[in-house]
Amino acid sequence: MKTLLAGLLILCLAPPLDAATRAAEFSGDGMVASRSKWASQVGAEILADGGNAVDAAVAVGFALAVTYPSAGNLGGGGFMVIHLADGTVITNDHREKAPLAATRDMYLDEQRQVVEGLSTASHLAVGVPGTVDGLLAVLERYGTMDRADVINPAIRLAEKGIVLDRDLAAQFERRLKDFAKYPASMAVFSKSGAPYAVGERWRQPDLAATLKRIRKHGRAGFYDGRTADLLVAEMQAGGGLITHEDLTQYRSVWREPVRGTYRGYDIVSMPPPSSGGVLLVQMLNMLEGLDIKASEFGSAATIHAMVEAERRAYADRAEYLGDPDFFPVPVARLTSKDYARMRFADFDPDKASLSEDIGAGEIPLESPDTTHASIMDADGNAVAYTTTLNLSYGAKMVTTGAGFLLNNEMDDFSAKENAPNFYGLLGRAANAIEPGKRMLSSMTPTIVLQDGKPLLVTGSPGGSTIITTTLQVILNVLDHGMDVADAVASPRFHHQWQPDRILVEARGFSPDTRRLLQSMGHTNLVEVPSFLGRGIGDANSVMSTKDGIVGAADPRSAGRAVGVSPAQSRADGKSPAE
Ligand code: DON
Repeated sequence: MKTLLAGLLILCLAPPLDAATRAAEFSGDGMVASRSKWASQVGAEILADGGNAVDAAVAVGFALAVTYPSAGNLGGGGFMVIHLADGTVITNDHREKAPLAATRDMYLDEQRQVVEGLSTASHLAVGVPGTVDGLLAVLERYGTMDRADVINPAIRLAEKGIVLDRDLAAQFERRLKDFAKYPASMAVFSKSGAPYAVGERWRQPDLAATLKRIRKHGRAGFYDGRTADLLVAEMQAGGGLITHEDLTQYRSVWREPVRGTYRGYDIVSMPPPSSGGVLLVQMLNMLEGLDIKASEFGSAATIHAMVEAERRAYADRAEYLGDPDFFPVPVARLTSKDYARMRFADFDPDKASLSEDIGAGEIPLESPDTTHASIMDADGNAVAYTTTLNLSYGAKMVTTGAGFLLNNEMDDFSAKENAPNFYGLLGRAANAIEPGKRMLSSMTPTIVLQDGKPLLVTGSPGGSTIITTTLQVILNVLDHGMDVADAVASPRFHHQWQPDRILVEARGFSPDTRRLLQSMGHTNLVEVPSFLGRGIGDANSVMSTKDGIVGAADPRSAGRAVGVSPAQSRADGKSPAE
């Protein structure tokens, strides 16, 4: 509770973010919604130049590594869900892997206690990065443009620099004490130790050089040669485990999506090693038997039903979800309608059930660290892309000489049976550390299809809250009839089985609703802030409507939706914000 209160205090003191455009953006010619105005602009320009949604998504991925460094990355991992106009649906898993030298108990001391900070703030926290292999594999298979075309915008942004807005300048300043441990991080995020000011130009020459090696050599520009040497040297200097062998062996994986249906719509989402798609479909299946539309948005009855579905799904997560290459995840069973009926048979519309008491973890409130982008082109191609370094700025460690931040994704493994990770999530054998294994994720990039065509592209950051945020956006559209801007902006809540409590954004439940929920037995309601940059989730989403494609950046943060206008011109060769 102490952590939570400290978190709330920090949050209340956080400087306000730039006032980004909040209105929904319309376009008939393609749309990109992401957390970074520069990255969204890059994606829209790629579409305007004739690229498809895949080209745009890859370009956005590289741009985010430059302009949204807390989560966009070269040194982390992500998941991409792709729907092509010809009906192909596929996912690319470029999740980080445990280094070959990793061991199950590597974060435990002699008393078998988890050593604080080892899996989040040390060289041992770093998983083998997957983003570069994933983005290039996706481009090669489904893109139409050259590697240089989609990497050049990122190189330009790193080399020429961007003029820092309040959002980024404030983030860097807040993190300076974390970066101070690492000279290479200080060199990128400060001016010899002094904070950058709003309006100053921020250049990243080492990162530009790394991007140029990737442009020239493809995956070998990252996993071999100078970049690999710099990364391995960083590991050796700091006691990390990643070797040249880890890097040359790393490959992203094409996986069949998790599929489900909800009231006649098709749901396509990320399979394990994400828990997101499985839990999303599971919860939708449980809720399908109820008349959510009739019980209406925000009522105690609707909230109660959703919390009970969430409680059951997250309990399954701790037991059954992990890397499918190492653990037989029962995906078909967990996502079947029969299973949901059985699992929800004891649902009592008037009474809360109790989560088993097996040790509660706190969910510290961090600023957004993962990031989600939604892209749709005019031809019916759509991409949902979520990428992360895990916590904000990952391990806070820039690879010396190579200019990119390293992840601390190893914390997403279960360091010990039933010991909560940073997000309070519990896990057991399915998600134990093994060499070469991918750590379980909650990232839920999702596409909702109507009659085989993309209707909604969505997803979010937020650790354990990602899955319930995605669920809420989908229910808001499909059951409550909201447009995408309202669906994304509406207040959110979250339950994850353990700890047994409902997190709710400030003023998210009315006093009457709170009283009704309490009378059903939902006695542990914890309010979290809802204002700029600090609410639950950041669900930048895109939706197809009869009037065109609508993009909505989540008003909780400073993201932006940018639509393609046919008249769009890049005559000056610059993004407007440069
Ligand atoms: O993969 C996961 O589930 C986590 N590493 C995501 C972390 C995250 O969303 C942080 N953002 N707020």
